[in-house]
Amino acid sequence: MTRDEQKKQAAEAALDHIDAGAVVGVGTGSTANFFIDALARIKHRIEGTVASSEASAARLKGHGIPVFDLNAVDELPVYVDGADESNHYLQLIKGGGGALTREKIVAAASRKFVCVADDSKLVDVLGKFPLPIEVIPMARSYVARELVKLGGRPVLRDKFVTDNGNVILDVHGLTILDAGTLEADINNLAGVVTNGLFARRPADVLLLGTANGVRTLT
Ligand code: A5P
Repeated sequence: MTRDEQKKQAAEAALDHIDAGAVVGVGTGSTANFFIDALARIKHRIEGTVASSEASAARLKGHGIPVFDLNAVDELPVYVDGADESNHYLQLIKGGGGALTREKIVAAASRKFVCVADDSKLVDVLGKFPLPIEVIPMARSYVARELVKLGGRPVLRDKFVTDNGNVILDVHGLTILDAGTLEADINNLAGVVTNGLFARRPADVLLLGTANGVRTLT
């Protein structure tokens, strides 16, 4: 079974977490795209969605699924999104697609976060995947120096601007043993918008596509 097939089966399993009449939070990336395509099949059963990126909003609208501004809705019952890495506590690294800030906002505004991924994303220790950090452009060099002090090797993502008009530093070489503390420490640096650790608000459910079907971790 290919990675894409694993992503697709995990994404389709997330439909079981969607209640009738819900406004659904929708993430970003290739696994989230499989979820959007699956959601199109039940679009008459939901009220609409809130998207975590312009790209996902465009895909949702392409399927004729309503997309609302987060400010126009109340707490969301569920958010479905992929991840770049998850540990066994369902703490995640996200942001490979650069949408981490809006993803973190929509996740924070949701009661349940269902993460969908292929089984290569489950790791014992976070950090092999470079940790994305969204930074206000004028703070880029300062923040990079501070990240070196924290033991990382920040690399500016080439020719990339986020939906919010900022840049991304991808931090290599971190072994993340205390994800909650590192998430807060990095977010405390002046000029950081947010970082791709989802540890303080981890996923509630992880649906992993595997060669033997979908594995559920909670
Ligand atoms: C987008 O910014 C990311 O957080 C994605 O959710 C993450 O990179 C997973 O992407 P894939 O589903 O494409 O692996």
